[in-house]
Formats: sequence, structure tokens, C-alpha cells
Amino acid sequence: MKRYFIHTFGCQMNVNDTNRMGEALASMSYAPTPVAENADLIILNTCSIREKAEDKMLSWLGRYRQVKLQRGALIGVGGCVAQQEKKKILEKVPYVDFVFGPDAIGKLPEIIARIESEKVRVVETAWVDSESYVFPQADPKSSLGKTTEFVTVMKGCDNVCSFCVVPHTRGREVSRPFTEVLQEVARLTTVGVREVTLVGQNVNSYLGGISFAQLLLRTAQVPGIERVRFTTSHPHDLSDELIEAFRIEPKIMSHFHLPVQSGSNEVLVRMKRDYTVANYLERLAKLRVARPGIAVTTDLIVGFPGETDEDFEKTFALCEEAQFDGQYAFVYSPRPKTVAGLKEEEWGPVPHEVKVKRLERLNALQKQVSVGVMSQHVGNSVEVLVEGASRTNPLKRMGRTSHNRVVNFDGDAPVGALVEVEVQASSQSSLAGVQGRVISLPLVTIPEVALQPEACVVA
Ligand code: SAH
Ligand code: SF4
Ligand code: F3S
Repeated sequence: MKRYFIHTFGCQMNVNDTNRMGEALASMSYAPTPVAENADLIILNTCSIREKAEDKMLSWLGRYRQVKLQRGALIGVGGCVAQQEKKKILEKVPYVDFVFGPDAIGKLPEIIARIESEKVRVVETAWVDSESYVFPQADPKSSLGKTTEFVTVMKGCDNVCSFCVVPHTRGREVSRPFTEVLQEVARLTTVGVREVTLVGQNVNSYLGGISFAQLLLRTAQVPGIERVRFTTSHPHDLSDELIEAFRIEPKIMSHFHLPVQSGSNEVLVRMKRDYTVANYLERLAKLRVARPGIAVTTDLIVGFPGETDEDFEKTFALCEEAQFDGQYAFVYSPRPKTVAGLKEEEWGPVPHEVKVKRLERLNALQKQVSVGVMSQHVGNSVEVLVEGASRTNPLKRMGRTSHNRVVNFDGDAPVGALVEVEVQASSQSSLAGVQGRVISLPLVTIPEVALQPEACVVA
């Protein structure tokens, strides 16, 4: 039997696509291996959101070249860099055998068969048009050992944020029919999944037959599902209906990732984000009334072309006011084909040292806020869904709270148990404690398998 190894970069969309690739490869009797050096096929599932992500891909490709030299492994590049660069990757990297875009995952067996029989290099990056696109159905066996899983509800993005490459790499929005989503969720419960995260680049504009809020409510009703999450959302589609869903359905977890990007209205206009800081804060306030204590996290870009000191101070002030529970702040990185990339000179590039200083200030503020929020848990009990052994200490257990806070704790609860944990210590990013009462167990016993590396939400 041949073995494959997939290295996943980027967001939850890629994590999910990696599972679908595994299923396509299983159909041609390939088995996974956690060690690249043992593989007959290595795939890099790439991300191109920032330049750094692309550079990372190139440096990993260099390492995997050794496996090709030693055992003749095939090397493929999938994901967003593949879609963006297409055959240029074959020109640039002579030892890559094939390049395939996110719409060509189902064609993997065909691509590999062609390479083997015809000894050719293959590029498959055509889009499938929205009307004929069929979402691949997840095989629940891929989720064995997990109690929390991603479920794709849409692909692509119709927004045109001027900094962002995603519309160029993922194409137009296509929503998955809600009946298919609910069937997939129900199938996942048969292997012990109790928590699902509905994923898409822009889930709030879901158009799969019911509204996104309705989809969340219906998902929460699937027998066996205890927790529902979603990511990610654009603030301009954050409807009152969605806020209302947080008020009425406790199975929707108390966490909302709502990327604001900047606290300056002038910058937001150039980013083409079509909301103002006041609109954003108004939505946030409403959400916090509907679900008191909800954890709100955000994404921020510093050093966007033309961002002045004054603009940055407005972003800093917004973060002070909003008191985010967590933030992913990035230094602006120009991307091919984007408006901001093309107009950077005209708008005024921000020097690298200035960008880094601004990033450091935001991160320092966030650290102070997060440390304060997390320390409030000490001495209290939190409800945790157990995901398995702790990544930092295999003798401890690990799970998350409703607010998506990681908890490492002493205990013996099986994967999929909902338990109370007495919190004894906290840091900026996690809580530590001791297991208390078991609240409920999963419908089926979940095998204890080694957890995959933490999916990076953004590369
Ligand atoms: N669809 C999501 C964002 C997905 S990309 C949304 O609209 O909220 C994840 C994050 O990467 C973005 O929120 C943004 O903060 C960051 N990002 C995207 N393009 C970037 C660029 N060119 N430079 C730096 N950060 C970028
Ligand atoms: Fe990119 Fe998100 Fe904007 Fe879409 S909504 S263009 S994915 S930042
Ligand atoms: Fe693509 Fe996700 Fe990166 S959509 S560009 S892998 S953040």
C-alpha cells in the first residue's frame, strides 16, 4: 500500500480540504503517514494570504525534495498558491509533479493515475462554475477520534476587500444546500462528533435555501450535537436575525470572530470594507446584549497603504474600547491582483519598521486585555468539551470552553465528554485546572487517537 503525507497551511477551509484530499486518495488505496520521509506522495496544501505564507511553502518544498531524491515520492501543490500561480509553479520548481486548485480535489486520483501512466506533469486549476459545483461529502470515518469537526457551508467570496487575495484563489461564493449540510452534521454524530464549526470565508452571506441564522438553529437541533460554532463573518452581513439566534439558542457557543481590520474610517474605505467604526461598534454592542459575556475576537491589519500615525491611533483606541478577547494582528502584505497591491505606491507604503512597531503595540495591548479576561476564571468552574490529551503535556486532558478558551486539566474523562473543570491558573492563551463533574458523555465511544497539530486559523 502506498502512503501519502499532506502538509496543511492556511485557514479552516484548507484544513477541511485536506480531509477531502485524504478521502480521494483512500479511494486509490493510499494510506496516510504522519512522517513525510515515509511517503510516496507529498502534497502541500498552500495558503497565499500573505507573502510569508508563500515563502513558507517554498522552503518546505525544498525540504521535501530530499524525499523525492531518496524514494521517488511524487510532490503536488494544492490550495491557494496553486490556484494563484498555476503552471508557474512547475516552471519555478522543477521537482513538483502536479499543481491542483481547490476545485480539483475530487480529480486527485485521475491526476495521479495520469502522472504514473503517462509520465507527465499535470496542472488542474480550472474553476467549476457555481451552478454545477457539487460540494464533496465528508466521510465520517475521516473524523474518527474527534468530537469537534469543521463542516463546509460555502466556498469562495464575493467581497472585494482591496487587500485580499481570497476572491482570486477561491472564486465566487457558492453556498451548499442546507439539507446537505444538515445530513453531513447528522452523519458526523455517528462517530461521536458533538461540536461542529460551520466554515466558509464569509458565512454570513450564506444562501443555501435558508438564512445563515436559520442554518445555525437547525444545526443545533441535530440529535447528538451539543455545540455549534462558525467562522468567519464579515461585519456588514451581521444581521439582527443572527444576533437573535445567539439570544435564543444556548447551543450556539459564546464566541464570535468578527474581523474589523482597522479603526480608521478612512482606511476602511480604502480597504473597501463598507462599514464604519460606529457601525461595527453598534453591531458589537447589540451582540453583547443578546449574549452577555460573549467572547469576541478580531483580525487587524497594520501598515495598510496610506495608514498614518493618526489612523493607527484610531485602531488602537478601537481595541481599547472594544476589549477584544483575542486578536490576530498582521502586518500588511501586498498581494498580486489586489487593488491595494496595485495602488500601494499611490496610497503610500508604510515603512516596515513602522508596521512592526504598530503591530507590537497592538499585541502588547491585547496581551494585557487577554491576561485580565483569562485570570477572571481562576477559582471558578468552566464547562469543557474534552478533545483528547493535552498538546503540551500528554498526561493531561485538553478541551475548550464555550468561549473557545483552551483548558488543560488533570482528569480522565474520555474524548467527547462534557465536563466541569475547576480553574486553578491562567495565561494569555489557556486555562489550567482539575476535572470535576462529568455532565454528559458522547452517544458512542470515541477512540483515543493522537491529535493532529493545531489547525492554524490563519497562516
Ligand atoms: N474572510 C475573512 C478573512 C479571511 S483572511 C474576513 O473577511 O473576515 C484572514 C485575515 O487575514 C483577514 O481578516 C486579514 O486580517 C488578514 N489578511 C488578509 N489579506 C491580508 C494582507 N494582504 N496582508 C495582511 N493581512 C491580510
Ligand atoms: Fe478576503 Fe474576507 Fe474580504 Fe472576502 S470578506 S475579500 S475573504 S477579507
Ligand atoms: Fe486560501 Fe485560506 Fe489562505 S482561503 S489564501 S488558505 S487563508
